[in-house]
Amino acid sequence: MADTLDPDGSTTFEAEIDALLEVERFEPSEEFRRAASTTDESVYEEAERDWQGYWARRARELHWHEPFQTVLDDANPPFYRWFTDGRINVSYNCVDRHVEAGDGERVAYHWVGEEGESRTITYADLHRDVQRFANVLKGLGVGTGDVVGIFLPMIPEVVVAMLACARIGATHNVVFGGFAPSSVAERMEVSDAKVLVTVDGARRKGRTAPVKAAVDEVIDRAPSVQHVLVVRNAGVDCPMAQGRDLFYDEVAGTVEAECPAEPLDPETPLFILYSSGSTAKPKGILHTSGGYLTGVAATTKDVFDLKPETDVYWCTADVGWVTGHSYIVYGPLANGATSVMFEGAPDYPHKGIWWELVERFGVTIFYTAPTAIRACIKWGPEHPAKHDLSSLRLLGSVGEPINPKAWVWYYKVIGGERCPVVDTWWQTETGAVMISPLPGVTAAKPGSATRPIPGISAKLVDPDTGQEVLEGEGLLAIDRPWPSMLRTLYQDDERYVSTYWSRFGPRTYVAGDGARRDADGYFTIIGRIDDVINVSGHRLSTAEVESAIVAHDEVAEAAVVPEPHDLTGQAIVAFVTLTGQRQGDDALAVELREFVGARIGKLARPGRVVFTDDLPKTRSGKIMRRLLRDLAEGRELGDVTTLRDPSVVDDLRARVAAQKASS
Ligand code: PRX
Repeated sequence: MADTLDPDGSTTFEAEIDALLEVERFEPSEEFRRAASTTDESVYEEAERDWQGYWARRARELHWHEPFQTVLDDANPPFYRWFTDGRINVSYNCVDRHVEAGDGERVAYHWVGEEGESRTITYADLHRDVQRFANVLKGLGVGTGDVVGIFLPMIPEVVVAMLACARIGATHNVVFGGFAPSSVAERMEVSDAKVLVTVDGARRKGRTAPVKAAVDEVIDRAPSVQHVLVVRNAGVDCPMAQGRDLFYDEVAGTVEAECPAEPLDPETPLFILYSSGSTAKPKGILHTSGGYLTGVAATTKDVFDLKPETDVYWCTADVGWVTGHSYIVYGPLANGATSVMFEGAPDYPHKGIWWELVERFGVTIFYTAPTAIRACIKWGPEHPAKHDLSSLRLLGSVGEPINPKAWVWYYKVIGGERCPVVDTWWQTETGAVMISPLPGVTAAKPGSATRPIPGISAKLVDPDTGQEVLEGEGLLAIDRPWPSMLRTLYQDDERYVSTYWSRFGPRTYVAGDGARRDADGYFTIIGRIDDVINVSGHRLSTAEVESAIVAHDEVAEAAVVPEPHDLTGQAIVAFVTLTGQRQGDDALAVELREFVGARIGKLARPGRVVFTDDLPKTRSGKIMRRLLRDLAEGRELGDVTTLRDPSVVDDLRARVAAQKASS
């Protein structure tokens, strides 16, 4: 990627990047340390000495309607429960607490829309809007334990809807706005959602998509949905089914303004978030209230060194992913932070929009994904160079391994070699950051997420022997419960146990990632060891994409594997055999891409489709994906003698080579 680092071909710039790549450790600067809340190594040991006491202390930073005595109930592993005898309300902690402390006028979000319009939402605004929304939900019969689907774009109402659920003990199930309506219907159906909150239409890069009308076509597949609540957003006309569909603003005018936050059992389910696993059926990852909020509040404060009175924080994720849940909504709000929330894409209306917003709002903490950084590298440093980024004091990365070159570019071009970069490893399942530098304490090494944060115990395990690997490669495992851990997979305890806790027993969580550990105890995450592909930091299941492809009439079989990609980290390659007479050609490849896009969502579209007469199979008929993966990644092929027909491989190799040559 060296030639795209700087479009002017400035040798000095490239030489400076190369020089930074030689630096092994980046210590926090004196300037950063002087202002940082935590600068002392001893936090790690202190937490280690009494880790349950540590988490209890962090939990007590929140407001408890009734204090807890029990910290951890581990009587039935891996079904751990935290702070069970206390009472808490997540929405109270995120909103009311700040208003009652006299900070109601503090900005919670500087929201910016796609076309440059903006809204300023204070904590007092949230307090008013969340209560009304909660009363609307109650009016529709939603109560504790009910599931509310949320399919909304990045508008302030998405936060309000989530907090309204939290306020009354309902469980939200947010579906990322980029998913296809059929995925929304599927997720509503499997979670028994009672109400779906959506919009008339959503804007993306200057166009408007008719969301409600698209949802209408499939929502009958989810019979549990009794009401569709429509937030007016884009001024799109939409059909409304009488008795089922309601405009939010019309109902909001008819309900009470006040809805006190209910003291809830801390294990009340807060949300379900569907994520991809090894099979086509998405996993409903379930998080509860007290432990989750403890984890996200503590990590937002520590990992970003957040100071709510002075910082302006911006996480560029979408609320539809766990990063948005934890680090746009719950973590920042629990801390009373001021955030930027941006509806649009990083290149609309122009490729410098992020940096324009950093300058406009004086953003101090910026959290994004490596794929976005790589896109910025491609677009060139002239876009950030047009803006004053001197307000920034800390940068974060999440979602996929960050290659050292992207790390140093981020550090230099965006951070002005002044800001620590925190590479944060975590998952939908972990709820909150697990491995990351503490920016005022831990020296960073580009490409490494460094050490588990205080209170967390991570280790590497040899996949064959189960022995701990102190230095070298192994499976990443967490060998102690933590408050923000998932509690189960929605209505599927068995899959919860078998996916995460069966390999080394019910006290060792297997994360599904391979990693390396160096002599300093630093972790470098290599990537998934299961059939999950990480495209732009988004998890996709190979099985889910395959089953979408084979649903096409002309497809006989499909096998999907990842290949490395400069921008998106990994991309999807689909190997496809056809039925009937039609030959695989470019037109059919485009058709299949769109077919998958319509079934799952655009991000699941294969980057390449390779048509073939046969797939490599074992004698028992199992597709050997490992071989396809080696082919896609251009690696030497391992043993092919177990194949039913080894000649298939030569044919495929020729096809892959021909396609790569022509692209
Ligand atoms: O493979 C790891 C990768 O993303 C997976 C989790 O994906 P998801 O549940 O969608 O959550 C993404 C946002 C937290 C992990 O199993 N991953 C996440 N962060 C990193 C990472 N890989 C390397 N470095 C990271 N910092």
